[in-house]
Amino acid sequence: MKSLLALNWKMAPEKPTDAIRLAKSVAALSKKYKKNISFIACPPFVHLAAVAKASKAFRVGGQLVAADSTEAQTGLISAGMLKASGAQYCIVGHSEARARGENNEVVAQQIARLVEKKIIPIACVGERARDTQGWYLSEVKDQVESILSALPRAALRQLVIAYEPVWAIGVRAERVATPAECREMIIYIRKVIADTCGAKASESVTIVYGGSVDEKNARTFLTEGAAQGHLVGRASLDVKRLGALAASLIT
Ligand code: PGA
Repeated sequence: MKSLLALNWKMAPEKPTDAIRLAKSVAALSKKYKKNISFIACPPFVHLAAVAKASKAFRVGGQLVAADSTEAQTGLISAGMLKASGAQYCIVGHSEARARGENNEVVAQQIARLVEKKIIPIACVGERARDTQGWYLSEVKDQVESILSALPRAALRQLVIAYEPVWAIGVRAERVATPAECREMIIYIRKVIADTCGAKASESVTIVYGGSVDEKNARTFLTEGAAQGHLVGRASLDVKRLGALAASLIT
């Protein structure tokens, strides 16, 4: 099975020319590894249409969608705009967006808007901290259940869940998760989905890992961590590292 490599460019690059350059490198990698890896580039919205036009070799996703499309919202991007700009996916529920105030209810509304426009959600879940009593499991359970509440059963097969422990993300990461921690959580997420939607539906959901993924650790999340791909931040902006990361997945 192909693994999924979703690239979360966050607020970079600043310049459109750099976004196109990066997109061309992703296209080259995508062609090189087309048998093994599905690339999804998620640029900031200002670059989305240009990146989507730059190549058909990979798919494109947004990073933001308005929860309510019935009222005009200054500064927000609707699911229809994402679709018209070439997005087939959109990241929702990222911990950085949750830290800005988006809660499970908002994430569920965003997912509903995406599904209306046939955009596949890359729905992020993850605990803020680990503890010894399993509260971190309840936190992720609530997130998963609210994602499921917004999805018609038919859309489940395409859903991508990104398990991203908050403590493992970005420059302030405490550390990367171990493959064992990732595996435990992915099994748990599948159990939560199975309890609500049945075992077959649960197996059809794609679950990837994110949080300080790089060329050194990426492969073990597939081989030992039960992940079916990755959501990559920092390492997705450096063409050399991204190339090494992709190469590491298929050796
Ligand atoms: P990181 O970001 O790879 O830079 O830790 C991952 C993410 O936030 O999705």
